[in-house]
This record gives sequence, structure tokens and C-alpha cells, in this order.
Amino acid sequence: MKAYVCREFGPVDSHKVEEIEDPRAEAGQVIVDVKAAGVSFPDVLIVQGKYQFQPPFPFSPGGEIAGIISEVGEGVVDWKIGDRVIAMTGNGGIAEKVLAFEMTLMPLPDSMDFKDGAAFPLNYGTTYYALKQRGQLQAGETLLVTGAGGGVGTTAIEIGKAMGARVIAAASSDEKLEIAKNLGADEIINYSDGELKEKVKALTGGLGADVIYDPIGGDIFMQCMRCINWKGRVLVIGFASGPIPEVPTNLALLKGCSIVGVFWGRFTGAEPEENSQNFDELFALHAEGKLKPQITKSYSLDDAAEAIASLENRKATGKVVIEM
Ligand SMILES: NC(=O)c1ccc[n+]([C@@H]2O[C@H](COP(=O)([O-])OP(=O)(O)OC[C@H]3O[C@@H](n4cnc5c(N)ncnc54)[C@H](OP(=O)(O)O)[C@@H]3O)[C@@H](O)[C@H]2O)c1
Repeated sequence: MKAYVCREFGPVDSHKVEEIEDPRAEAGQVIVDVKAAGVSFPDVLIVQGKYQFQPPFPFSPGGEIAGIISEVGEGVVDWKIGDRVIAMTGNGGIAEKVLAFEMTLMPLPDSMDFKDGAAFPLNYGTTYYALKQRGQLQAGETLLVTGAGGGVGTTAIEIGKAMGARVIAAASSDEKLEIAKNLGADEIINYSDGELKEKVKALTGGLGADVIYDPIGGDIFMQCMRCINWKGRVLVIGFASGPIPEVPTNLALLKGCSIVGVFWGRFTGAEPEENSQNFDELFALHAEGKLKPQITKSYSLDDAAEAIASLENRKATGKVVIEM
């Protein structure tokens, strides 16, 4: 099979698409013929050795895919060859075939094509967990989303609106804010001039946002800490800008706010029933047309490096997928 292969850590364009041996399913595993793979920020980090998990070499990045089961290992009873599935693979998905443990599989809903299925689990799973379980977002509250034109950001606008919040979308370009507006954001803020805090305060009568969803970190996170409302919740989603902020805790005291960590991958293992319930609700919202992955660009496997680089160089909007 063909796969985008990382043999040692290095820049995204140092890894090549190669012909390698097909994976084989062992007990409790299946092989999925990948039809589409979602690209997300962890793919940028994992091939450079900057992610929290470092798989043994050689490996392919790609944590989420949709495809068709082509081989079933010993002891697998709930899945059969020919099933259409979504798989959360951790890595290995940017390839024609991927090995997946049966507990990481979900049936691909009839309402979804392979591209939507590949684009769905990581971003919607993370955001719903963040806003529902971690942020306790209530209808009528104001939600600020930073990086609002990106992968997880676009899902935060959609889910925030579906949960009845007033959504302020913040991003660095008019192109990204146009996407946010089309998704239903009530207000938009361009922070390319470095100004976020004052603009949020102006839109909230000086109070600040009740819940803030921040996948960016760095200076943007520090500004978020200064425009959170009394008893607000600042959700730590990620650090796409690079720096991990060090927060003076007096800000949390003065605002009476909570800084809430969100680690969806750990939630799926620690609380599988809650996660499964979340997906039942997310798939229902998708079937009702209330959620629609914002796939703005599809690449071929041969162009995998370009696809991943588009997230690294901040050019990607919405969700990027690779079609096999
Ligand atoms: N906590 C979890 O469980 C979880 C799950 C999934 C993803 N994440 C994290 O969420 C973050 C976003 O992931 P994603 O897949 O949505 O990525 P993405 O599509 O590339 O979006 C990230 C956004 O970050 C902003 N950004 C600011 N500075 C940047 C920089 N120097 N380089 C690149 N982007 C920059 C960009 O928006 P502007 O240009 O508008 O600023 C960009 O649209 C990542 O840190 C990822 O690891 C966390």
C-alpha cells in the first residue's frame, strides 16, 4: 500500500509517500481501507517529535479516518468485512490501509459520506466535550471562540449556536471570519492587529464572555483571561501559536473564573459511555443538518505533505481532508 511515512522526526516536507507493506490485523483489530483521512494540528506536531505521544518509527500520522473494513482479526465479533466505519486511530491514518482496534470504531452514519466521516470525530468530539461537560455552556450565554476559522474553531461556532449561545468568533483574517459568519456567528472580531480583549469587552457591555474556547494559547490566551466574565470558564483547548502561557493566578481570583483543561483523547478512554452518548447526540445534529464539517480543501495522498503544511503555515481554513 501507499502511505505518507515518517522514518525520523523532521519538517513536514521531509517525509515522503512510499510503497510499504500492508498492515495485518491481530486479535481485537481490524484493517480499514481508508477512503478519507482528516488532517488536524496534531499531525503537524507528531512528525516533528513535538506531540505528547511519539509512536515508534516508521509511522504515518493521521488520527481519524473513514473507510471500509477489509480484514477482521481473531475475536472481533461486532464488526465484519464491508462495514462502513469511522476510526480514531491515533496515528497511521494517512495511508491506503490502517490498523484499528475495534474499540476505536464507530459505524459511519448513513447521513455521512466518507469525507464528512473523516472530518468529524476529533474536532466535533473535542468541542462538544469542551462546551458541554467542561464548559457547562448554557443557552443565552456568550461564547468567545478564538481561531474561529480553523478546524476545531469552526465546530465551536456550530455547536455553540446549536446549544443556544451567542457566539463571538475571533480570527486573524477576513477570509476566516467570512467562514465564521456563514456558520452563524453573531459577532466577529479580527485580532490581526493584536487587539482582542478590548473588542470583546465592547461587544459584551464591558462584562466579557461567559465561556471562552481557545485553541491558540500564547498572547491570545492571556488576552482571553482579561475578557472573561465573572464566574466564566476559560477552556484550554490547545497551543497552535506555540507558546504555552504562564498565567498569573490573581486573574482567576479577581474574575472568579475557572481555567478548565480539555483533553478529549483521555476522556474517550476514561469515560467511554459519556463519549458514546456525546456522539449519539452529535450524529443526530448532523442528520438534522445542524452540523456540517467545513471541508474547504481535499488533497490526494501524494500531496499529504502539502495538506499538513497548510495547517502549519496558518493557511488552512475549516477542515482539510486527504482522499485516498
Ligand atoms: N484538547 C484537545 O483534546 C484537542 C483536540 C483537538 C485539537 N486540539 C488542539 O487544537 C489546536 C487547533 O487544532 P486544529 O486542528 O483546529 O488546527 P487548525 O485548523 O490549524 O486551526 C488552528 C488555528 O490556530 C490559529 N493560529 C494562531 N497562531 C498560529 C500559528 N502560529 N500556527 C498555526 N495556527 C495558528 C489559526 O487561526 P488564526 O489565523 O485565525 O489565528 C488557525 O486557524 C491545536 O493546538 C490542537 O493540538 C486539542
